Amino acid sequence: MVKRVRIPTLERLDTSRFKLASFRNILLSPAVLILVATYFSYQGALWYFRNHIFWREPHGEFFNDEHVYDLGYSRERQRDAADFLAQAANDSASSPTHAYGPLLCAGIATVKRRTDYLNGTIGTMFATLTPEERGAMEVRLTFVSAHPEDHPDWDQGWLNLVDFHGGYNVTETEMEQLRTWEADDKWIQWKGVWDYTYLLLDCYERSNAPYIAVFEDDIIFAEGWMSKTLKALAELREMSIEWLYLRLFYTETFHVFWKKRDFFHHYRGVAHGTGAGATAFMLLLLRGCSRTVQRRIYNDASTTGRCWSSLALPVPKHSLKGTGLTRMDAACCTQALVFPRSQVLDVIDYLLERERGQTDLMIEKYADELGIARFAVEPQQVQHVGVKSSRGGSKKTVWAHLFETYNGEALREEHVRMAKGGRTWRPQDDGLSDVL
Ligand SMILES: *[C@@H]1O[C@H](CO)[C@@H](O)[C@H](O)[C@H]1NC(C)=O
Ligand SMILES: *[C@@H]1O[C@H](CO)[C@@H](O)[C@H](O)[C@H]1NC(C)=O
Ligand SMILES: *[C@@H]1O[C@H](CO)[C@@H](O)[C@H](O)[C@H]1NC(C)=O
Repeated sequence: MVKRVRIPTLERLDTSRFKLASFRNILLSPAVLILVATYFSYQGALWYFRNHIFWREPHGEFFNDEHVYDLGYSRERQRDAADFLAQAANDSASSPTHAYGPLLCAGIATVKRRTDYLNGTIGTMFATLTPEERGAMEVRLTFVSAHPEDHPDWDQGWLNLVDFHGGYNVTETEMEQLRTWEADDKWIQWKGVWDYTYLLLDCYERSNAPYIAVFEDDIIFAEGWMSKTLKALAELREMSIEWLYLRLFYTETFHVFWKKRDFFHHYRGVAHGTGAGATAFMLLLLRGCSRTVQRRIYNDASTTGRCWSSLALPVPKHSLKGTGLTRMDAACCTQALVFPRSQVLDVIDYLLERERGQTDLMIEKYADELGIARFAVEPQQVQHVGVKSSRGGSKKTVWAHLFETYNGEALREEHVRMAKGGRTWRPQDDGLSDVL
């Protein structure tokens, strides 16, 4: 038989009963116990999220940069690269055959740095390519300095991997200008922009590849990067849309609001309020429905609700990962961009007209002004390993946060599968197979 609970009304309350002696009763009351339990489980969940799940997500509330820059997958790739380069240095006749003419001309500029990453860049770019993938690209490496022989890699044996390597090929007047720029760091933005256009033009003039890439010299390529790039290029061609570049590197750090995926993250204030309100409402409803529940749920319903809904909300925005070709109109950094040949001369003109600046911002501005679409391969195919020597301990670094978590074994299998899928897609041999 259910015992009916008598609810004290205000008149019936005997205030004399509230003495210090009843303090213990309050402490052990369900309301306080629930609050304490909520507090500890909430703190436990926060700790777990911060240390085990979401710590790599730079936008999340749980970001923890203590180990975010430790090399994981990149270290694995550096080992692949070292083995591959040792082999290549012995093998003097490794120049590639371009059966159909290259599909992608890749310009790389290198300068002497405090830490030299060029061997890793070239090594990871070439290691594990299939011969067909290798044949689809032409790599032009320029030592962008008036004294290229000062570069530690200037006469390395493995340079015979690339199709061209050497210093600037410029007129004496241009060389004079470059020397002036090199002499003082204040010209760095002028030289940066000029070098970028030099690489674009070098590929444009010396190669007939329909796609032109510019890569920096302090990056690491993931296995399968070339097959994914070719696949994305084939998809872009199918879409017949005007596009400015295909991005192989981006950092989650600089991602702004993406309407499609980040709705709740962007409006987290509203979402938080709604979550807390809904939970509190449900609890109050329950309390209204049944006397038994009524005794259990005290006035802390809304606090409890708020705590738990706030835990769900800071779940980071980039935890929804895409794969493959993705439109990405607002992203950062020029570590690895692929342009269609048809855009290259206009980009060069735009950059040279403005003379100086940060090349990545200038390219974004150019695209924004003309309203041209930009794309990326998701997840990143390139890591900016050079950030380790240039970062200043800030959260806003040019780093691919997920790259280090890649599984080398899985990527290898995926690469083999894609390479087996057929012949490399080439725009020249029309009528033949389109897909990789
Ligand atoms: C690149 O060269 C440096 C210095 O010689 C060496 O320590 C490093 O292991 C090399 N990296 C690769 C990937 O070969
Ligand atoms: C490269 O050649 C040298 C000397 O001929 C030899 O000692 C070395 O083992 C070779 N390395 C590889 C990776 O084949
Ligand atoms: C340098 O440029 C000139 C003129 O554009 C060209 O004829 C020559 O072949 C280039 N040299 C190299 C090594 O590319």
